[in-house]
Amino acid sequence: METGVQQYYAETQKLLDEIKSSEIKNVQELEQFRITYLGSKGKLKDVFALMKEVPAEEKKNFGQTLNTLKQEAESKYESLKEQFESASSKTTTNIDLTMPGEPVELGSRHPVTIVRKKIIDIFSSIGYTIAEGPEIEKDWYNFTALNFPPDHPARDMQDTYFVTEDQQWLLRTHTSNVQVRVMENQKPPIRVICPGRVYRNETISARSHCFFHQVEGLYVDKNVSFADLKQTLLYFAQEFFGKETKIRLRPSYFPFTEPSAELDVTCFICSGTGCPVCKGSGWVEILGCGMVDPQVLENCKIDSSVYTGFAFGMGIERIAMLKYQIKDIRLLSENDVRFLQQFESGW
Ligand code: PHE
Repeated sequence: METGVQQYYAETQKLLDEIKSSEIKNVQELEQFRITYLGSKGKLKDVFALMKEVPAEEKKNFGQTLNTLKQEAESKYESLKEQFESASSKTTTNIDLTMPGEPVELGSRHPVTIVRKKIIDIFSSIGYTIAEGPEIEKDWYNFTALNFPPDHPARDMQDTYFVTEDQQWLLRTHTSNVQVRVMENQKPPIRVICPGRVYRNETISARSHCFFHQVEGLYVDKNVSFADLKQTLLYFAQEFFGKETKIRLRPSYFPFTEPSAELDVTCFICSGTGCPVCKGSGWVEILGCGMVDPQVLENCKIDSSVYTGFAFGMGIERIAMLKYQIKDIRLLSENDVRFLQQFESGW
């Protein structure tokens, strides 16, 4: 073998050793490796160029040596490339699975929800069940069955949103509609409370809104008396506002009850001595009530010579505002978290 050829082999071997031993720590160094050995001006190109200097009988052998060299360089490059790529895809997302999770902020109960639940719990404990009904209602259930004849001025007490031109469909102005539906469908004894949202066409201000929530109650059985009504409401008031609470009933008017009354409780802020919440009177009004008018029972096919009943109804927002001394009813429907967060504790 000519010395020239030996030298070519030596050079190839040297290059192979160099490739095998080169240490590559990162992508930049790998790219440098590619340029140095495999690039278009790389060292491999140089030794491949020696091929044409090699005598014909050595070409095959030398060619194989070159191929081995090239394969070595290429496979080293490919395997490192893969290694770096998979490592980088893991690190770029940068997830540390041992870190604690982002804290999830807990919501709090809405004051209307808190008060509604409290009212329902009290009446459930004395045997009332919950009844619900539609918010879009027929005139019959909201007015006529409840003794509001057409054109009766009492209809103006509750400014109504009508849904149809003929005023036969409307957004219910109170949940008394549910009481009619229950009386039509159940036989006495009936003992229900009807929580729900109601609508009135009122100018929105700090004191009134075009929608709010009510809980109304109804008890129909033989021998239900005004004394039963009074005792039931006293029980409710003391459970809700505290054992010291006193009540008083003032005569009032509702078309569907006779007699009708409004219920005041001793002011739970000043215990009756006079403060801004009770406007110095020592009493706050919390609900309307009365004995179900016999005509209403008859409208619902209940024999008024056998059965009597009482009913009551209260606005949840009003009670929540009194309880928490909230000055503006609009806060209760604006969903400002800073406002709502304040009512978590309490009950
Ligand atoms: N439905 C009356 C209102 O919304 C409240 C009420 C209910 C009064 C039952 C008396 C009896 O104003």
